[in-house]
Amino acid sequence: MLPLSADGLYRFYHDGDIETAALKGVSLELAAGEFVAVMGPSGSGKSTLLACLAGLDDPDGGVVEVMGQRISRRTERERANLRARHIGILMQSGNLFDHLTLACNLSLQLKLAGLHERSGIDDLLQTLGLTQRLQARPSQLSGGELARAGLALALCTRPALLLADEPTAEVDSLTEANILDCLKVRCREHCAILIATHSHALASQADRLLTLDDGRLVNDPASH
Ligand SMILES: Nc1ncnc2c1ncn2[C@@H]1O[C@H](COP(=O)(O)OP(=O)(O)OP(=O)(O)O)[C@@H](O)[C@H]1O
Ligand SMILES: [Mg+2]
Repeated sequence: MLPLSADGLYRFYHDGDIETAALKGVSLELAAGEFVAVMGPSGSGKSTLLACLAGLDDPDGGVVEVMGQRISRRTERERANLRARHIGILMQSGNLFDHLTLACNLSLQLKLAGLHERSGIDDLLQTLGLTQRLQARPSQLSGGELARAGLALALCTRPALLLADEPTAEVDSLTEANILDCLKVRCREHCAILIATHSHALASQADRLLTLDDGRLVNDPASH
């Protein structure tokens, strides 16, 4: 069973009379333990793609399956259930609740996923250098800490699939290396990882690199 499969995704945005085709027939698959990076110019559709794959947005055409279950064209509740069970998500806007400490954010995430055990979380926090920051609220974290906290939140439920939109935006190279280490550990534990990034350093470490240009995967023979 593939952690992720997407076939022929289209997404149109309408702003008055103006229509933007953000995705124009994107298909991709991720195997367990695979680390894939998506690059492409600003506005090429990376965030739109990740949101559709995560079931945060619904594509106008095409199908998304996560762990063999269709997540596109489902009710909000069904999508939320699939997300909670299988997907770790880090979007550009961040994923932490502002009024909760990091510890409370993590507890809530586990609860939403129906998990009662905290197995592996201490190691995760250690790897990401966050053990001392558990009682801080997001506004009290530095940009780099916030990036790592977002990743901790996305990974604490041990999802089969991680979708991360620019996980190392605005962090220093040491923090980026820590984040990369953390992603590699998860890959070895069979998590499939798809990141959108502008960082060549990060993308060069991926098993596979996809390039989006104007809503199409340019290195995908099927899209021509
Ligand atoms: N809610 C929206 N309404 C209208 N247009 C949108 C909306 N969200 C995105 N777009 C447009 O869709 C296209 C794709 O945007 P998207 O955010 O997916 O790009 P991106 O590759 O993630 O860019 P960046 O690298 O800057 O994050 C852009 O032309 C953008 O202006
Ligand atoms: Mg984006």
